[in-house]
Amino acid sequence: MCGIVGYIGNKDSKEILLKGLEKLEYRGYDSAGIALQNGHGIHVFKEKGRIADLRKIVDGNVTAHIGIGHTRWATHGVPSKTNSHPHQSASDRFTLVHNGVIENYDFLKREYLSNVEFKSETDTEVVVQLIEFFVNEGLTVLEAFRKTLTLLHGSYALALLDAKDRETIYVAKNKSPLLVGLGDGFNVVASDAMAMLQVTDKYVELMDKEVVIVTKDQVTIQNLAGETINRKPYKAELDASDIEKGTYPHYMIKEIDEQPLVMRKIIQTYQNEQGELTIDSEIIGAMNDSDRVYIVAAGTSYNAGLVGKQLIENMAKIPVEVHIASEFVYNMPLLSKKPLFIFITQSGETADSRAVLVKVKGMGYRALTITNVPGSTLSREADYTLLLHAGPEIAVASTKAYTAQIAVLSILAEVTAKSQNIKVDFDLVHELGIIANAMEVLCDSKELFEHISREFLSVTRNAFFIGRGVDYYVCLEGSLKLKEISYIQAEGFAGGELKHGTIALIEEGTPIIALATQESVNLSIRGNVKEVVARGANPCIISMKGLNMDEDSFIIPEVHELLTPLISVIPLQLIAYYAALHRDCDVDKPRNLAKSVTVE
Ligand code: M6R
Repeated sequence: MCGIVGYIGNKDSKEILLKGLEKLEYRGYDSAGIALQNGHGIHVFKEKGRIADLRKIVDGNVTAHIGIGHTRWATHGVPSKTNSHPHQSASDRFTLVHNGVIENYDFLKREYLSNVEFKSETDTEVVVQLIEFFVNEGLTVLEAFRKTLTLLHGSYALALLDAKDRETIYVAKNKSPLLVGLGDGFNVVASDAMAMLQVTDKYVELMDKEVVIVTKDQVTIQNLAGETINRKPYKAELDASDIEKGTYPHYMIKEIDEQPLVMRKIIQTYQNEQGELTIDSEIIGAMNDSDRVYIVAAGTSYNAGLVGKQLIENMAKIPVEVHIASEFVYNMPLLSKKPLFIFITQSGETADSRAVLVKVKGMGYRALTITNVPGSTLSREADYTLLLHAGPEIAVASTKAYTAQIAVLSILAEVTAKSQNIKVDFDLVHELGIIANAMEVLCDSKELFEHISREFLSVTRNAFFIGRGVDYYVCLEGSLKLKEISYIQAEGFAGGELKHGTIALIEEGTPIIALATQESVNLSIRGNVKEVVARGANPCIISMKGLNMDEDSFIIPEVHELLTPLISVIPLQLIAYYAALHRDCDVDKPRNLAKSVTVE
């Protein structure tokens, strides 16, 4: 979703801001802009489309030691040059970038700004006009900024320039992510550390409702009452090469290929010196104290949660419910007496999940976040965190985070089971090692998946994925991957459910991708395939070694049947990737989507 960068220092900020915005492209956006401030005033350049389009219109002759930039993912108002950020106040004195949603913008507009002529349809413009309104009423800029913040309902990360002050960027956040980066003779602002890793790896976290005054030599954090807050900086543990594509054409394929490595990293990180899997005893205590686990997540992370339910119930014998975050907030089920909440989120910033976290923490319940991003909002605000150690995931389509989430959930299930002396009938470290090897075999079979993708998906307008048990959960993920990057309408179904309605959609040649990795349902899923073939469907069966039959299109290596999602998903990721390529889609930046969904 929207991304923010800012720079104040001795260098020309233009290229630093543009490079920073390029690093935020992965979050998803539809327009971008920068504001450069120098002795001649504030120069705003904005454009609909990609950063490359913005670059074309930025005046190379403008140099400025202070500036802010923004990538916009439209919420209020269509994607357009006018609605893109930065936005300016009526007199052009104030220039603002914003990430988030101001829920009461309409009320504020009517209440305070009825005489102001608005240029855009955005909620953001209300904020910048309000700041000017309060300055015109006699407040200082800082007072006006604070006063405005106290009136806002909703989420925001803000960076503000004042044309009469070339020494300061004003910054604030509530619910939306924002960091301040520290340098020698300069400071920066960024939605995430990746954006400004080019200039610094030293960052300060900001908390909700804090106001920050950033100059080139100083960063002053205050609460809304104006009291100064001291906070130590931290070093962002990111390797610049982790966020580069290297020789890969797309981040998505790079991240698919990284999965064996991530599996091995997870095994190592969660092993103690004796080679046993281990997890913080407080987390295991919380698991054992609970009578029911509630997994809350969105999208791919929700799909991983479904597999997690299977793992925790089978291994640790604790009942688990899995909920879609955006539904749970408004439609909470009757909770058990001692619930434990597990939030699964790659980014750690998903607003829907965070809203549930805030709600259940307010009710006094304990929460564990499983995330890829240390220090992210959901990590900070939960009682406990388990990290995925998957390295930055840049492609919008989540791949390595999904398998990392399942692997970490399997470790949580195993360690919990062992702590209760529940016997687990397999050695998880050994099995995860086998899985890492099997993942390599699959990643080396790209040509085959390219071929399958061409054969089944190059001309179709829809596709169905069917499976039973955990295969069904993987089908949900496979269909999500296909639809989000190739725009083929794809749905995942439980094999037995198809004939209760959806089978009406099967026509001559409709592609059906079926997973057959579970012995207990192997014959029934094959029966379901026959039902659709009889109605003209074109079946692509992906089975597991030992369960395979002559008609199968691909056979994945044999792994423990509880853990098959870790590898059966890889063919589906690759098939989706090639389908998107064959259709000339923008694989890493699919239309309308954002990597980090920071609005509810
Ligand atoms: O960062 P999160 O895991 O909380 O994100 C949740 C979903 O937005 C995300 O999994 C989304 O569905 C994927 N990008 C799809 O590939």
